Amino acid sequence: MKRKTALPKKSEARARRDNSRAPAWPNKRLIDLLQIDHPIVQAPMAGSVGPDMPVAVSEAGGLGSFPCALLAPAQVREAVSEIRGRTSKPINLNFFCHAPTRRDEAIEDAWRKRLAQYYTELGVEGSCSPARAPAPFGEEMCDAVVELKPEVVSFHFGLPDAFLVKRLRESGTKVFSSATTVAEARWLEDHGADAVIAQGAEAGGHRGMFLANETATQAGTLALLPQVVDAVKVPVIAAGGVADGRGIAAAMGLGASAVQLGTAYLLCPEARISAQYRAALKAARDDSTAITNVLTGRPARVITNRLVQQTGPIASEVPAFPLPIAVLTSLRMKAEEQGSIDFSALYAGQAAPLGRELAAKELTLKLAVEALERFRALASPA
Ligand SMILES: Cc1cc2nc3c(=O)[nH]c(=O)nc-3n(C[C@H](O)[C@H](O)[C@H](O)COP(=O)(O)O)c2cc1C
Repeated sequence: MKRKTALPKKSEARARRDNSRAPAWPNKRLIDLLQIDHPIVQAPMAGSVGPDMPVAVSEAGGLGSFPCALLAPAQVREAVSEIRGRTSKPINLNFFCHAPTRRDEAIEDAWRKRLAQYYTELGVEGSCSPARAPAPFGEEMCDAVVELKPEVVSFHFGLPDAFLVKRLRESGTKVFSSATTVAEARWLEDHGADAVIAQGAEAGGHRGMFLANETATQAGTLALLPQVVDAVKVPVIAAGGVADGRGIAAAMGLGASAVQLGTAYLLCPEARISAQYRAALKAARDDSTAITNVLTGRPARVITNRLVQQTGPIASEVPAFPLPIAVLTSLRMKAEEQGSIDFSALYAGQAAPLGRELAAKELTLKLAVEALERFRALASPA
């Protein structure tokens, strides 16, 4: 049974007081860069986060992130106008910049044949036309973002074309992106990133890999983070497996200027996830997740299910991202109707069992209090 932590009374006041006492946060680079109170970034989570979560986190003094990878420019404009109406604090807009999908009929046919037994079993047909495919960040979206002026734009899977990065930075927006190796971190810094998100293998969701292509050699946060900190001059944000004050203190002890938490925010009431997803998160154990490419065509850490176990976790002939999502849609919907997650991409990290059912604002403040208390305990041991 999941721990339901009582709301910390006066946690907001405590977090503020703790933060006003010097020395508070041991590394203030991201705090100073963005003028935020706490070095806590709520991860953008496409498909699971609407405006409510970034509003709550930014209002708590962290950095709220709004995922835009699945949205058209008009939808981004509408959502940002709502978010800006509810908070004047800094926000992050997040996009994917994957290479446009290359279709390969032979691979797609072979994959459909591989799944044929499941279509027969569930009595559904498969298709390979992506309905809601994430589009890579392009000029039209850049126009919208330059107009909207978010304090931060973060990317997954590298960076867009150099002229787009230049436009964003000239508009005053800070540009961040995820690195899963030291080489990717160096590349991001060389190509204009203002901060690098070091994404360890524990992380839920898609691996941000864009130079690396070997999933088996991806390093965990504890090993990757200090190596990235040593390799780049820009601030480094630790992502992957951080879920409470202990994780934040560990990451900052290794040189992180901030942390980015995804899975830990999924149990917040603000997360837009199904009851099945929520139940699977609550039942998750340390060994419930795996990195797989069979659900989307790119390596992503998810709660394991029948498809991952029977065809993966890493299969060699999988259609390119994001085609497998469309291939699986009918199966997934039918299975979910029957109460099963056999074909669902329930993104989650290895620290899922540390999740707490708190509102996003309370969780952010609690994380800050926990981490600050830990720093104080380390500075003056009993
Ligand atoms: C449900 C879910 C969806 C995610 N979607 C995105 C996304 O749209 N963009 C992105 O940059 N990262 C995404 N990520 C990865 C996070 O940015 C981050 O690397 C990860 O959550 C950190 O690890 P943790 O889940 O252990 O906290 C997602 C993660 C999860 C759990």
